[in-house]
Amino acid sequence: MTTILGISAFYHDSAACLVVDGVIVAAAQEERFSRKKHDAGFPHQAVAYCLREGNLTIAEIEYVVFYEKPLRKLERLLETYLAFAPSGLRSFGMAMTVFLKEKMRLPQVIARHLGEGFRGSIVFTDHHESHAASAFFPSPFDEAAILTLDGVGEWSTTTLGIGRGNRLELLRHLQFPHSLGLLYSAVTYYCGFKVNSGEYKLMGLAPYGTPRYKDLIARHLIDLREDGSFWLDMGYFNYCQGLTMTNKRFHDLFGGPPRDPESNLEQRHMDIAASIQAVTEDAMLAIGRELFRLTNVNKLVLAGGVALNCVANGRLLREGPFDDIWIQPAAGDAGGSLGAALFTWHQLLEKPRPRSATDRQQGSFLGPRFETADILARLDRAGAIYRRAASQDDLLDTVVDLLIQGKIVGWFQGRMEFGPRALGARSILGDPRSEQMQATMNLKIKFRESFRPFAPCVLRDHAHEWFALDSAHESPYMLLVAPVLDRHRVALTTEQRATMNDDPDLRNRVNVPRSSIPAVTHVDYSARIQTVDETRNPRLTALLQAFHARTGCPVLVNTSFNVRGEPIVCTPEDAYRCFLGTEMDALVLEDIVLLKTEVTETVDPTSREKYLAQFQLD
Ligand SMILES: [Fe+2]
Repeated sequence: MTTILGISAFYHDSAACLVVDGVIVAAAQEERFSRKKHDAGFPHQAVAYCLREGNLTIAEIEYVVFYEKPLRKLERLLETYLAFAPSGLRSFGMAMTVFLKEKMRLPQVIARHLGEGFRGSIVFTDHHESHAASAFFPSPFDEAAILTLDGVGEWSTTTLGIGRGNRLELLRHLQFPHSLGLLYSAVTYYCGFKVNSGEYKLMGLAPYGTPRYKDLIARHLIDLREDGSFWLDMGYFNYCQGLTMTNKRFHDLFGGPPRDPESNLEQRHMDIAASIQAVTEDAMLAIGRELFRLTNVNKLVLAGGVALNCVANGRLLREGPFDDIWIQPAAGDAGGSLGAALFTWHQLLEKPRPRSATDRQQGSFLGPRFETADILARLDRAGAIYRRAASQDDLLDTVVDLLIQGKIVGWFQGRMEFGPRALGARSILGDPRSEQMQATMNLKIKFRESFRPFAPCVLRDHAHEWFALDSAHESPYMLLVAPVLDRHRVALTTEQRATMNDDPDLRNRVNVPRSSIPAVTHVDYSARIQTVDETRNPRLTALLQAFHARTGCPVLVNTSFNVRGEPIVCTPEDAYRCFLGTEMDALVLEDIVLLKTEVTETVDPTSREKYLAQFQLD
């Protein structure tokens, strides 16, 4: 038996992953245990969980693999800061301090964190090898072109490669600071959203705008060549020298200072979002074409933070040269832990990779599971009032009844998801046909005011009846966007059309019902789809089938089980606290149902505020 523990840490989104004889046994992000969003510390609790899941002690781990090479990153920082000195001295000093503390002595630091019992070897893989391995090795393809698109890793920010059987090879690199991810992050920052988490919001804002800054961006900020390579004009950016992303020249280009995060979004911001989104999509298509030319392989796998841009992914699938695309669901740095472990198994230890008709990601349900008896004991300790369903049919009947009544249901089933999206293990579900669902979920559950619709989960076999996703393709990890089909769209009144066009309050625009599933339809009719199938998620499939049988609609709203700024819930206690802390109507933990109407404990406003105050706004 060969045991490999992959680790990503010390940048953002720390995680651990256990691979035993080539099988992914467990993977989880540290934030889920520590309850600190994007926790970047050593993933102690994620490692402990992986060992528990594998029934192993640290002494039984042969290889611990760290997802990047510390010295290469140090070189990059040094060269960058020297090139920009002296203006970068302040942040250089800060970065160096961190480095001297943790990263320079990384092997010792890791060994110390692992504890005395560890007797195996510590291995370092390259950051982009880790991403590439996380994209290719778990994919269903025997042969695939590989594209990794990152914010910033080591030297490379974009890599083009090829995977065949149990090997992968990186063929071409684009180097720091010329990065699509950083360009997107710079605009995210400029529009008043948080770098490393607000990119998703910027993508959601894009459909409100017209890409009228696209040429400006192409003329000044990025030189995108025919072969997919690109150069950024560093005269507009500040991320090499400073602690912000953009400088005055950048601000002048877009006609003003960055947006204050709390201020209103103006049409200008929406147009900038639409423009950077269009530029990103063009770049991804150009890179895709070049990659196809280089490899002549018609399957594509993707990883790296930019691979979470599901709008661009959808376009790449529809308009690009590839027949099929597989995207690593933990596309960001957390997934590096998984890639590092699989890279070690296949590439370094030269172990074969058997052919497989489906992917090896197991639905990304790689986190902790809680047995019913355990949940019951935990609920009793918390003094909760609950009832147990007599059978799965009984459970599904109850939940479908609640959903049809417009109730919002916390859905906690099986192993927690690995990656940023909730896929039906730690989800909040609702009826997508309801015109109020979007506003209700945002205000009463998420405590945010959002201009973005929610994502739908849909029975895979019915997806093509609702969305423009052909039946040969699936989107099991919510990483593709496709339009709602014409036949489900509804005609707008003149008044609604006027709201859609120029209401300054984006919530009014998004709340105009444009389809028979308004809660999941964006203003441009697009939807961020998760296709659900029996193999990956039998219980959610059964629920969708039951809902479909009663309503004719095989779609549910699926949003992550958390409030704004909170990491997705991990344990039954996390879920119960979130249930009490919000206006969620029901909580389903495996076969156990809790109803808000039966909660006797007074959930007073101060305790609710206290609960919400723990989490930093994102
Ligand atoms: Fe990365």
